[in-house]
Amino acid sequence: MKKTDIHDLSWDEFDEMRDPRVDSNGFDAVVDRAVSRRGFLGGALAFGSGAAVFGTGLFSSTAAAKADGMSKFAFKPIDIATDAAVHVPEGYETKVLVRWGDALWSEAEGAYSAKTGVSVEMSDKVFGENTDGMELYEVDGKTLITVNSEYVNPKINLPAEAEGTPRSADEVKLLKNLQGVTVMEVEKADAGYKVVVDSKYNRRITHETEMTLAGPLAGSDLVKTNADPKGMTVKGTMNNCGSGKTLWNTYMTCEENFNGYFGTTAEHETTPGESRYGIGGEGRYAYEKFDPRFDLSKEPNEPNRHGFVTEINPADPTSTPIKRTALGRFKHENAEMVHAKDGRVVVYLGDDERGEYLYKYVSTNTWAEGTSPEGILDDGQLFAAKFNDDQTGEWLALTPQATGMTAEEILCFTRMAASAVHATTMDRPEWVAANPLKAEAYCALTNNKNRGVKPNAGGDDTSVNAANPRETNKYGQIVRWVPADENHAAESFTWDLYVLAGNPDVYDNAYAGSENVNAGNMFNSPDGMAFSSDGMLWIQTDGDYKNEGDFEGMGNNQMLIGDPETGEIARFMTVPYGAEVTGLCWSSDKKTGFVGVQHPKGTWPDMGEGDKPRSSVVAFWRKDGATIG
Ligand code: FEO
Ligand code: CA
Ligand code: CA
Ligand code: CA
Repeated sequence: MKKTDIHDLSWDEFDEMRDPRVDSNGFDAVVDRAVSRRGFLGGALAFGSGAAVFGTGLFSSTAAAKADGMSKFAFKPIDIATDAAVHVPEGYETKVLVRWGDALWSEAEGAYSAKTGVSVEMSDKVFGENTDGMELYEVDGKTLITVNSEYVNPKINLPAEAEGTPRSADEVKLLKNLQGVTVMEVEKADAGYKVVVDSKYNRRITHETEMTLAGPLAGSDLVKTNADPKGMTVKGTMNNCGSGKTLWNTYMTCEENFNGYFGTTAEHETTPGESRYGIGGEGRYAYEKFDPRFDLSKEPNEPNRHGFVTEINPADPTSTPIKRTALGRFKHENAEMVHAKDGRVVVYLGDDERGEYLYKYVSTNTWAEGTSPEGILDDGQLFAAKFNDDQTGEWLALTPQATGMTAEEILCFTRMAASAVHATTMDRPEWVAANPLKAEAYCALTNNKNRGVKPNAGGDDTSVNAANPRETNKYGQIVRWVPADENHAAESFTWDLYVLAGNPDVYDNAYAGSENVNAGNMFNSPDGMAFSSDGMLWIQTDGDYKNEGDFEGMGNNQMLIGDPETGEIARFMTVPYGAEVTGLCWSSDKKTGFVGVQHPKGTWPDMGEGDKPRSSVVAFWRKDGATIG
């Protein structure tokens, strides 16, 4: 791979290039997995260690759905698409709400041009690039949306640099400003919604915004730097991927591939802690060449201050964001908060890298509506999930006794703590979504080309297991669990697979997918997920969109809706070629939904000659004004 191609890599590919795993982990239990599709789905026969996983939940419920022929979906599922448009079912409409470069304040009106992008002066006054996690709030009669801008495409943001590599401090500043988080007020317009330019709530939070470190890692030697000798204040939240909403209506933004922002300008020996997180070598955006904070040879502790869930209060534009270290440090996908039956607060957390883990945080104290959340996200226990082959599971507490690490080390090098307790290596845990109608939660396991092939970054064995049952898993699956006693704070659970994505046109074995996947709804790489208030699971994909070979018949990335009861899954939306669907929230009246379109190719949405692709938030609604969520 030529160095100049670095910006064409996904974050996953970037990690693999920078820190390739050894080719074998002694995985020698490769048996013939070409079981017949029927046998596989009958639940009697699985493969690897995953026998009998498909018995109760998925198979029987799907069969029941087929028997009564009922569908709860109030739309006609759509076909795949391969074009540069957003498609929704008949009777629905869509409209772009806001695009990369659109003004949040009137001084930035017209700041974006297709030729030059956005100037450095205006780069923190416009909507950022590559929209991801998103939540909606009502504050004093106003509607606010908080939304992440996960990363930038430097080739289109720096038109002067053909290779996309910044060559000045100003160019680095521009890239820093176009990422992070946006808080914006929106209001109903003739069709859909529009951004309220100059709203007092509008805010950009970037890689330079000052924030507070809270929780057990605050003040630790592990997070002290030259600029912050006390280890209490940090600049910036980085690679803001998924999101979450607290029970007290604040925003949780999740720092995912933070490792890629750090590099070194001098000799620097990589530590085991850095290696586990893919930190070292050259940064993706050359920050380290212009800002010593990102230079490992000068500030080796700076990366220890990123990779957290950061809480932001959208109702107060002057509030200081807070990094919640008690929720652990890893490549956080999203943060799904639920109020457990016993009153404690639980946050489910995925770590999106091949063979990493699924986590949950349980607060020590209970919380009740109307009371202060002080301490709820700072004082609690972190657990990693173990999925047993018999469809039971346990949450393994990451304690000093169990891990042999100090409490501070556990929160700073959480992956190593989860390895120490032998949690289950997963196929890249992306979003977790909890069913609002019953005590159960779902996690999208997007794919894992290394399953059964190579160990994870910590050298842990990644042979197939029941929850991750396919070697070189290119399609992904969704696992769900029911906590013991219907209490999300409980330390045990039962689980099954809601869906195994696959291609029944290409394969007649496990790669064909589970029975609720067919030629009419197939997809790959589930990623974003959210439940609507009516208990339907919305599934967004971030996968192969080339519509060829193993992925033929899947088309562009898409959003589907799954019925948890019957297993039925129907395609609701397709997004432009090249894009993934990210982030999902609804207006309070449930009549409008909002989704993100990240990394489109071509000229969407402006569609003129010479236009650049612009990541955007899109609103969708039913023409008859009925509720959709
Ligand atoms: Fe930013 Fe794992 O998605
Ligand atoms: Ca994602
Ligand atoms: Ca992605
Ligand atoms: Ca993804």
